[in-house]
Amino acid sequence: MTFYEPDTIFCNGSHFRLYITKEQLDKRIEELAEQINRDYENKKPIFIGILNGAFVFLADLMRHVTIPCEVDFFKLSSYGDEKVSSGHVTELKDLDADVEGRHIILIEDIVDTGLSMRYMVGRIKSKKPASVAVVTLLHKPDATKHYVNVDYVGFQIPTLFVLGYGMDYAQEGRNLAQIYVIDEDSEDNGPPVIPKNTEKI
Ligand code: IMP
Ligand code: MG
Repeated sequence: MTFYEPDTIFCNGSHFRLYITKEQLDKRIEELAEQINRDYENKKPIFIGILNGAFVFLADLMRHVTIPCEVDFFKLSSYGDEKVSSGHVTELKDLDADVEGRHIILIEDIVDTGLSMRYMVGRIKSKKPASVAVVTLLHKPDATKHYVNVDYVGFQIPTLFVLGYGMDYAQEGRNLAQIYVIDEDSEDNGPPVIPKNTEKI
């Protein structure tokens, strides 16, 4: 079987190169799921995927979650079709689940300025859950403008625009099986890093 996984991509006028491979993603997502299985045993959490970007990550994570749980979705938009956040969060779909008194695990593709996740945490907390945790596949810590506590991080990355594995550029590229980074001259060009202390305290 062949997957759609080239080494470089040209998308909406920008060049991207392979940054996080399918093997790296699979391994790290399995580790995150194992941590969640341990931390949420007997808590029957509700996973809330933040659409659109988180749908691929959430689906793969779920396949390794072995504890009883539920899944729901919330839809936000903050980027429009640009490579930088618009600075506004628009709510496009609310939850169906009743989260009062429940353990909630928010699932994001990427936390960039923190605006969307900070908004989401506030929105969920107002519904009186028993607890709220944040899981993000990618985190750009140097891009933080709105601080939010992130409990589980797949990879920390520099402040660079990425594509694939659910993440888009002007709605394209979400179907790529691996993660690509914009190929432009930048000093901020380091590799993805797995944060050391990711155990939940
Ligand atoms: P924030 O509100 O600035 O933290 O941005 C979060 C949202 O913007 C994420 O859920 C993504 O949908 C989108 N986003 C942030 N950085 C990138 C990127 O590098 N590529 C694609 N989408 C991104
Ligand atoms: Mg998103």
